[in-house]
Formats: sequence, structure tokens, C-alpha cells
Amino acid sequence: MWPDSPFTHKFGVRFPIVQGPFGGGLSSPRLAATVSNAGGLGSYGAQGMTASRIADVISNIRAQTTAPFAINLWVSNDDPGALDVSAEQLATAAAPLAPFFEELGVTAPPRLNPWPRFDDQIEAIFDARPPIFSFIFGVPSAAILDQCRSLGIGIVGTATTVDEAIALADAGVDAIVASGFEAGGHRASFLRAAEASLTGTLALVPQVVDAVNVPVVAAGGIADGRGMAASFALGAAAVQIGTAFLACEESNASPAHRDALRSARARHTFLTRSFTGRLGRGLPNRLSDAIEAHTPLPYPVQGQLVGALREAALRQGRDDLVTFWSGQSAALIRDDRAEALFARLVSECSELIGGGT
Ligand SMILES: Cc1cc2nc3c(=O)[nH]c(=O)nc-3n(C[C@H](O)[C@H](O)[C@H](O)COP(=O)(O)O)c2cc1C
Repeated sequence: MWPDSPFTHKFGVRFPIVQGPFGGGLSSPRLAATVSNAGGLGSYGAQGMTASRIADVISNIRAQTTAPFAINLWVSNDDPGALDVSAEQLATAAAPLAPFFEELGVTAPPRLNPWPRFDDQIEAIFDARPPIFSFIFGVPSAAILDQCRSLGIGIVGTATTVDEAIALADAGVDAIVASGFEAGGHRASFLRAAEASLTGTLALVPQVVDAVNVPVVAAGGIADGRGMAASFALGAAAVQIGTAFLACEESNASPAHRDALRSARARHTFLTRSFTGRLGRGLPNRLSDAIEAHTPLPYPVQGQLVGALREAALRQGRDDLVTFWSGQSAALIRDDRAEALFARLVSECSELIGGGT
């Protein structure tokens, strides 16, 4: 009975509420610690970070909370062809962006920057032993999962389809996030193309619940007590909320990004590969309108190209040229502090389904 669930029992948290991790530098130790201290499970998305930065982040979170938290990685760091993109291909892909680079007075990156590899990042997890390791875009090897188990690290995988959930359950994960296509950020599909893995939360969660024997965490489109109560009715053991926490001032999203999530603009989100090369949900703008028609470079190279523009646009306050991630729940956002959001989630859900707080 709420707030107790197989998820709270397994991971030792008071409430079955997970603050979703954000890659791309948008997580913050403060947000993760705030949610964990409130009795939920705070998460930090370490995608793109080196092992030594991951170690620093884990120490930083530990300095702010003694409660459980999760560190999140992407199992697959690049798409086929990414490592072989030539300077010429990069220049061709940059051509449609040339007017924007010119407008901002910056140059397109002439070559690829190396990106951290999962195999190195996971070493930081083994060394620092965060209470929980969560991941997307695949299933780590049996050796890695065995090592987590022997170190006492909880394991949470992410599925966008029932088949992916079964693959994760077969690998022996402790819980599965079932991510519906309403969710903000990337579609973390790994068995079929993301475009062929677009089940909504309402349909996905009960099917995953029926297919696996581990706690299922509903994610995608949940931003208030109503979404939580609905998820629990579907059989979820917890909810994972991203966009609503991203809009809180404790996240590492820029003020412009947080304002965009709260604006009428956020009533319309779209799925695109043009931001990074992998399919993700965000807000359309003048930049995305212009590049949508062109074939993106493989992930993460497209992200490096667009990222160069993004950083310059953010520095110059040019919101029309900054790519912003957002889920479909953005228009439900009410709070600007994580503690207030968390308290409202708990009280609304308690009011709807009963149970103690
Ligand atoms: C900007 C952004 C970045 C995200 N990055 C990650 C990530 O690196 N790893 C991950 O597991 N989930 C990531 N997610 C998904 C969230 O953790 C969460 O599952 C999702 O936002 C839930 O759906 P909602 O946005 O409708 O609340 C990201 C979401 C957003 C909005």
C-alpha cells in the first residue's frame, strides 16, 4: 500500500518516487541529494563524463545525503559510423548550420572530440560503489552486472518495449524503468529502432508488469499525483519523473531552459534526431526547423556539432537557437523547487489513493 512498494523495500527509500537522471550536463548533485533527502531516489546522469568526474560527483552527492541515490550511464556510447566520421562529412553536415554559426559569430568544430567510453566510466562505479547504478541504451555484460552485485550496488535498467524489459529481467536487474514515449530526452531503445519503439506509458507499463517479475518503474508523462496514482493502478512499483524535476532550480538546466519548460511553448514537443543523432523529445525552435530536413550525423557526433551552436547561443541569450529537451508533461509543471514538487507529489498521490505520508 502506498507509499510502500516492492521498489521501496528493495532499495530502502521511503517513497516510490525516482527523480530521473539527466545526461548532457543537466543533472546536479544538489537535485539528486534533495530528492534522496526527501525520501525519494535522486539520480545523477553521468553520460558523457570521464571516470574521474564521475568519482567527484559521487563524493559530492555523498557529502549532501546519506540516503540511497543512483548514478546513471549509457551502455552504448555511439552509433555505427560515429568513430569514422571524417572532417569532410563533418563539414558537409555543418553546411546547413553555417548561417547560424555566422549569426552567433562562432565556428563549427573542425574535428571530432573524443568521448568517454562506458567501459571506463563503469570503473568509476565499481570504485565508488554508489547505492544504485541505473542505465539506458542496452544491457551491460554479465560480468559487469555480477561485479555490481558482488559490490552491493543495486541495478536498474530501462526499457522502451516489452522485449527490452524481458532482456533486462533475463540479465537479472533489480528493477526496470518502463519509459513511455511521452518522456523527455532520448528514447533509450536498444533492440529495435527508436522510431519503432514508441509505445506510450499507459500501454507499456501494464504489459511490462505482466511480462517480468521485478519492480517496474513507470516513466514518461508523469508530473503530478494523478499520473502517479494512474501508474500504481497499472501495476508500477514506482514512478520516475524527469521533466518536472528538470524545471526545478536545483537542476543544472539553464534559467532559459527552465523558463521554456514553464512557457506555453512547452505545450508542443517533438521527437527528433537532429539534436544529437539519436531520437529524443524536445522543444522545436528556429534551429531545429532548419536542420530537421537534413540527415543527422551518427550519435554523438551530431550532438557535438549542434552542441557547439547551443553553447554559443546559451552564452548570448539566444533562446531561438538553443535546443531544449522536454517531455510532454511540461505543461503540468507547477513548482520551481524540488522539495515543493516532491511534497506535492506525495500529498496529491496520498489524497487520491489513500495511505500514510
Ligand atoms: C533532459 C533530459 C535528459 C535525460 N537524460 C537521461 C539519461 O541520461 N539517462 C536516463 O536514464 N534517462 C534520461 N532521461 C529520462 C529521465 O530520466 C526520465 O525517465 C524521463 O524524463 C521521464 O519522463 P518525463 O520527462 O515525462 O518526466 C532524460 C530526460 C530529460 C528530460
